[in-house]
Amino acid sequence: MIAAKNILITTCCFIMFAARCYCLEFEYHSNEELEQVLRNFSTQTDDAGAVKTELYSIGKTYKGTELWVFELTATDDETLGIPNVKLVGNMHGNEPVGREILLHLIEYLLDNYNKNETITWLLNNTRLHILPSLNPDGFAEATEGLCRGNNGRFVRVDPESAIPEDLIDLNRNFPDPFYHSNLTFDITESTCLMKWMENKTFSLSAALHGGELVANYPYDSSTHAADGLPSRTPDDDVFQYLAKIYASNHPNMKGCSNLTNFTDGITNGAEWYSFERGMGDYNYAYHGCMELTFEISCCKYPKAKELPRYWNENLKPLLLFIMQSNTGVTGQIYDYLSNKPIAKARVMVAQRNVTFWSSWNGEYWRILLPGEYTLKVICIQTLFIPS
Ligand SMILES: *[C@@H]1O[C@H](CO)[C@@H](O)[C@H](O)[C@H]1NC(C)=O
Ligand SMILES: *[C@@H]1O[C@H](CO)[C@@H](O)[C@H](O)[C@H]1NC(C)=O
Ligand SMILES: *[C@@H]1O[C@H](CO)[C@@H](O)[C@H](O)[C@H]1NC(C)=O
Ligand SMILES: *[C@@H]1O[C@H](CO)[C@@H](O)[C@H](O)[C@H]1NC(C)=O
Ligand SMILES: *[C@@H]1O[C@H](CO)[C@@H](O)[C@H](O)[C@H]1NC(C)=O
Ligand SMILES: *[C@@H]1O[C@H](CO)[C@@H](O)[C@H](O)[C@H]1NC(C)=O
Ligand SMILES: *[C@@H]1O[C@H](CO)[C@@H](O)[C@H](O)[C@H]1NC(C)=O
Ligand SMILES: *[C@@H]1O[C@H](CO)[C@@H](O)[C@H](O)[C@H]1NC(C)=O
Ligand SMILES: [Zn+2]
Repeated sequence: MIAAKNILITTCCFIMFAARCYCLEFEYHSNEELEQVLRNFSTQTDDAGAVKTELYSIGKTYKGTELWVFELTATDDETLGIPNVKLVGNMHGNEPVGREILLHLIEYLLDNYNKNETITWLLNNTRLHILPSLNPDGFAEATEGLCRGNNGRFVRVDPESAIPEDLIDLNRNFPDPFYHSNLTFDITESTCLMKWMENKTFSLSAALHGGELVANYPYDSSTHAADGLPSRTPDDDVFQYLAKIYASNHPNMKGCSNLTNFTDGITNGAEWYSFERGMGDYNYAYHGCMELTFEISCCKYPKAKELPRYWNENLKPLLLFIMQSNTGVTGQIYDYLSNKPIAKARVMVAQRNVTFWSSWNGEYWRILLPGEYTLKVICIQTLFIPS
């Protein structure tokens, strides 16, 4: 009798243990595993069932790998003014620390809603869209432990295509506000990202890279060719503030060598080194989305046993960065006759010559530092959402 009871208890405990103690490993997940991890997350929710998740793909690479996005929020679709924030990892296939950190971030947010006020507030006030890997095919070619070099950095091009190069750097393949020929190759990863941004209005974004330790803000491109001179956006004050939020909450963001001199752990892109057709400049200049590039590890592809350290270093900076999406102003643009919201209206701030766009629901977001601003709204063609 007693023995049988013991067996029963043991079996029970084992099941409970298995159900409650599943935690994401600190290891690099293959593209297949990444999909499985995200599918696992999408079946989970918090105790209150308040966090809504959605796993969606923004398209496939030419090799057929899906570009998965995990969306999470504790708001409903009807609540207006909730900013869309995106986080993009692994754009360079051989820089996968961000890819793994973003998976851990999803787990952390799901685990802590309703347990931790900060996380509850964060999910109550943002819609997060997390793309752990923009270059999964490059990642599949990259080698763990290789700190330098370009093995897996690029996107391979369909051999049948007319594109002359066989390897494309995704971070050199977007329309550029200064580089007027707009020569971008028709690469699915870039196209998917651009379509994603046309569909959703993002106000804040981070791209996670490796190979340095610095918070880099636009512009990377410039009118002048020489490196070392800054190329400032009209929102330089806001960008510096956002970069400092990240760097000052990171214990280690001070550059990787004594040759770099990043004051406060931040740098203007062109001031560090200038390059054309980057993703950050595209986000800002064409969509009014404030994207920063966070370089989070000196080694591009460190051994997996280093991942806990990178996770601990970046959690607080990431959370505080995401929260900044709720600073500044937000509102909704209506047509005063029909009372309908206007999509794709141009929103401008006086003295800041850059256009932000209203969402399909007429909402706009503008991250600004405390002060007095004049907003200007231009609707050349009123575009109503079909009802
Ligand atoms: C998915 O979750 C199950 C348990 O819930 C676990 O056994 C499995 O390893 C998870 N898969 C991945 C790839 O993490
Ligand atoms: C809530 O989460 C934040 C962010 O990770 C952390 O700094 C804070 O210590 C947590 N609060 C509690 C009470 O655990
Ligand atoms: C989060 O939202 C829920 C549901 O609206 C609300 O009950 C709770 O007080 C909110 N918590 C915070 C910290 O914003
Ligand atoms: C460059 O691309 C952008 C975004 O697609 C477009 O708005 C602009 O007109 C293009 N410029 C040129 C010179 O083709
Ligand atoms: C935008 O995305 C939604 C899903 O979020 C999709 O249903 C819709 O077709 C997309 N619209 C366009 C114009 O791509
Ligand atoms: C900079 O670092 C290199 C190696 O990391 C070292 O050899 C060199 O002496 C250092 N230079 C200065 C000025 O500290
Ligand atoms: C680093 O930059 C700061 C500010 O631009 C400057 O004052 C300082 O002298 C520089 N240090 C070195 C070692 O170049
Ligand atoms: C504003 O920017 C646009 C394009 O970026 C440029 O064509 C225009 O001359 C600028 N206007 C002013 C007043 O600087
Ligand atoms: Zn990179």
